[in-house]
Amino acid sequence: MNTIEHYRFFLKDSIRKSIDFRTTDQNQGIPAPPVEKPFNADAIHISLPAPDQWPSEFKKINLFSAISNRKSRRRFTSDPLSIEELAFLLWATQGIRKSAGMNPAFRTVPSAGARHSFETYLFIMRVNSIQKGLYRYLPIEHELLFITEIEDIEEQLTSACFNQRFTAAGAVTFVWTTIPYRMEWRYSLAAHRVILIDAGHVCQNLYLACEAIGSGTCAVAAFDQEGLDELLGIDGEDEFAIYLAPVGKL
Ligand SMILES: Cc1cc2nc3c(=O)[nH]c(=O)nc-3n(C[C@H](O)[C@H](O)[C@H](O)COP(=O)(O)O)c2cc1C
Repeated sequence: MNTIEHYRFFLKDSIRKSIDFRTTDQNQGIPAPPVEKPFNADAIHISLPAPDQWPSEFKKINLFSAISNRKSRRRFTSDPLSIEELAFLLWATQGIRKSAGMNPAFRTVPSAGARHSFETYLFIMRVNSIQKGLYRYLPIEHELLFITEIEDIEEQLTSACFNQRFTAAGAVTFVWTTIPYRMEWRYSLAAHRVILIDAGHVCQNLYLACEAIGSGTCAVAAFDQEGLDELLGIDGEDEFAIYLAPVGKL
C-alpha cells in the first residue's frame, strides 16, 4: 500500500472485517474504562446552572433559523459570556441526556457504541464570575473543574494554533481531546475512524447552539499537536487534542 492508499484505507471501514471481535477488551471481560476522566475531588469545582435555570430565550430558537444562519465566525466582540450561556453550550456539546444505570453514557450528541471518547477543556478568557484559566467540563456532575491559571493565555493558545489569531480572540475556546481507549475497548482497530466521525457531531451542535445565544464559533483542526497537548497538561498518547473551537459574542 502506498502512502495515499494507506491514508485512504483509514477512511474506509474495511478494517472491521479483519478484526476478531472475540478478542476485544470488552469481549475479554475487561471492565469498561471510566466514562469521565478521573479528577481530584479536592480541586476547585464550579457548579453550572441546569437547563431549568437558563433564560427561556435559549430554548426559543427555531431549528430552521439556526441551520440557515450557521457559519464559521472568526470575529468576536469583547463581551463576556454568561455562566448560563457557557452551561448551555457545554450541555449542547457533551451534556448527559440520559443515565443508563452505572454507565451514564447517553449524551446530547451521538457516539459510536455510546462510547463517547471525548473530554472537553475550556480556555476561559471572559466568562462572567469565572476566573481566567484552563478548565475541564465534568458532564456527569455538570460542573467545571479548575485545572490551572495560564500566564499569557491568549498568546500561548494562539501559538499552539499556528498563530491563527481568532482561536484565542473569543470569550472561551473549547478543546476536545480523545481518550482513544474508551473506543478501542469495544472496537479495537475499528475505533479510530469513528472517533473522528464523532467529533463532527459535537462541533456542529456547538455551531447551532451558538446561534441561539448571539454568539459564533469556528471549527479548527489545524494546530500544533504537541504544543497544544503540553498546554493542556495531557500525555499526548492516552489522551490528545483532536479539535477545537473558539466561541465569542457577536
Ligand atoms: C474539520 C474542519 C477543520 C477546520 N479547520 C479550520 C482551521 O484550522 N482554521 C480555520 O480558519 N477554519 C477551519 N475550519 C472552518 C472552515 O474553513 C469552514 O467551515 C469553511 O470555510 C466553510 O465555511 P462555513 O463554516 O462558514 O460554512 C474548519 C472546518 C472544519 C469542518
